[in-house]
Amino acid sequence: MEIEIRLAPEEKRMAPNFEKLLFGRVFTPHMFIMEYNCDQGWHSPRIVPFSNIEIHPAAIVLHYAQTIFEGLKAYYGVDGKIRLFRPWENVARLNRSAERLCIPTLNSEFVLKAIKTLVWLDKDWIPKQKGSALYIRPFVFGTEGSLGVKPSHEYLFIIILCPVSAYYEEGFNPIKIYVTERYVRAFPGGTGDVKAGGNYAASLKAQEEAKKAGYTQILWLDGLERKYVEEVGTMNIFFVFEDELITPALTGSILPGITRDSVLKLASILGLKAEERRISIDEVIEGIEKGKLKECFGTGTAAVISPVGKIFYREREYLINQGQTGEIAKRLFDYLTGLQYGEIEDPFKWTLILEESL
Ligand code: COI
Repeated sequence: MEIEIRLAPEEKRMAPNFEKLLFGRVFTPHMFIMEYNCDQGWHSPRIVPFSNIEIHPAAIVLHYAQTIFEGLKAYYGVDGKIRLFRPWENVARLNRSAERLCIPTLNSEFVLKAIKTLVWLDKDWIPKQKGSALYIRPFVFGTEGSLGVKPSHEYLFIIILCPVSAYYEEGFNPIKIYVTERYVRAFPGGTGDVKAGGNYAASLKAQEEAKKAGYTQILWLDGLERKYVEEVGTMNIFFVFEDELITPALTGSILPGITRDSVLKLASILGLKAEERRISIDEVIEGIEKGKLKECFGTGTAAVISPVGKIFYREREYLINQGQTGEIAKRLFDYLTGLQYGEIEDPFKWTLILEESL
């Protein structure tokens, strides 16, 4: 399929000054959009000026949350080249999420072409300073106007772009996380392992309570026993016990993060042992108390690698690594961002360099 391009007016295409970027508030002048219906399948792909969209008040997404999304970034490298990081993984996960929510899947190569074409068109909106990037948000949702609970027969697939800097106010400084036993994010057999919008809606209440108590994010425990660590609000979680890196195994209710997977693969290059296994909150607390838990950090596209300096659990606050960024988090951050910004060779072939001829 050819992508039709309708350009935004010249004055709207000028990139602003990127000094203070709040995550997800500034959008580039164009967006990609394409529709689905049962007769035509996915059709009419186009890039158009960024604008509001019209939606039926009974659209299935508005009532029953049939919506999925992805998040990836385009980086402006030290060599002036634009890189995407493992975009194939995001596209594959988008289709896994689609399957889980009875949304028609998309042609992976075509989705990648749409992302590349849009990013290239709005490439002047990629902030140039290291630590900033262009956040790419592809999403799909059911638009059929129908109040019956069933998969929609009509969909929109849209891609929007935001210049962003650090996700958290803390930047790369340690954040504080709050363990909830009251709420759960996901359950075996649920949608916790895909990027469904509803997962995030269901997390808001706990997230607000954590915020009120002065914490940046929630640390979720498993839904069955509320005993095993799963993930943090918008990221996966890693612990460093002595010299070993541990992250909760993907048991079906944890999002298989692409940064998580990258960190697991980078560990061996950096001479670290890494293990995926179940890890209980008791083991974490005991590790802190006995001085065995040296570091904790979260991983995610938006969050990159975010050190965790404090954990609140059962009325007590525990300090990790004196509340400071740990050596291992720093090394992983430097290596990962080194690849993303083209500072170091990419032995994994994880980066996709964009070029004029897409
Ligand atoms: C991402 O890291 O891309 C995410 O999906 C987190 C987002 C919910 C802010």
